[in-house]
Amino acid sequence: MTDRITIRKPDDWHLHVRDGAMLKACMPFTARIFGRAIIMPNLVPPVTTVDAAIAYRRRVLAAVPDGAAFRPLMTCYLTDDTSADEVERGFNEGVFTAVKLYPVGATTNSAAGVTDFKLVRPVIERMEKIGMPLLLHGEEAADPTVDVFDREAVFIERRLIPLARDFPALKMVLEHVSSKIGVEYVRSAAPRIVGTITPYHMILTRTDMLGHGIRPYFYCMPVVKCEEDRLALRRAATSGEACFFLGTDSAPHPVARKLDVCGIPGVFNSPVAIETYAKIFDEEGALDKLEAFAALNGPGHYGLAPNEETITLERVEWTAPEEMAVEGPDERALIYRGGETIEWRVVGE
Ligand code: DOR
Ligand code: ZN
Repeated sequence: MTDRITIRKPDDWHLHVRDGAMLKACMPFTARIFGRAIIMPNLVPPVTTVDAAIAYRRRVLAAVPDGAAFRPLMTCYLTDDTSADEVERGFNEGVFTAVKLYPVGATTNSAAGVTDFKLVRPVIERMEKIGMPLLLHGEEAADPTVDVFDREAVFIERRLIPLARDFPALKMVLEHVSSKIGVEYVRSAAPRIVGTITPYHMILTRTDMLGHGIRPYFYCMPVVKCEEDRLALRRAATSGEACFFLGTDSAPHPVARKLDVCGIPGVFNSPVAIETYAKIFDEEGALDKLEAFAALNGPGHYGLAPNEETITLERVEWTAPEEMAVEGPDERALIYRGGETIEWRVVGE
């Protein structure tokens, strides 16, 4: 049995770190482990301009603890009015790594998202031309007749397949793949289209969320699905295939918003993310594939070099903290797997 594994320093290709006190509180959990992270732009208001991204990057870096070498990779929130020139300028100046597309109403802070895909075609065309990746929240959310558990499959059918056909050179990332259909689609469309996978979509099912009382802390978008989907995600992540890689979608929220009458989606998992991926890869007998998933496949898609440093994980139990303190009125955020025994630990933590 392997009890210790050293891998190149991982990157998180899908991360929410918010702003203000929440940013200050959650950033250290990512910077302790990850070399880089794709920072989601769904602030209020969203990050839609080069200047806003530069200012946000500065705030993110200010929240990184001294001595941690962490590089935030910024994204541009795509709206109906986004200008292709602004996107290209941000990309050329090294400010925007990618553009993020939220269909309007699909998730937290997506009110400014895309209402009509026709309107954003000029931006997408430009991105295709300059080789800039498009990151997709792949859910069809505006049509109320689409069941919430089918949103990913319907998005692939109605949006992604046509996008892939119309923009044959456009690089895309289907983020937080959550279904067997999503896994199969990515595999069929790779290497141009790839997918990130969260730790919790490989652990939880909708029965965990709804079958033993309602668990608002397991609620996220896309919602966790059924056993068949969970197993397909585990097989994909641990297969070593270059089209699947790490994206935690760690998304802290104040307790009051998670427990509201209309609770908000998001699973704050950065404090246990790499340890939870290690547990999954171990359970699948695939610890030898963890490095590819966590540290090689992502840079490969983005055309970046893997990190030079390494981290070491060892099979030593510890208990995850239940919550993260947040200064001011936000008070605190509960942590995924908080209070549970975690099977793997990062050496030197
Ligand atoms: O569950 C989610 N929470 N999914 C998303 O896509 C957004 C995120 C958030 O920002 O809270
Ligand atoms: Zn997200």
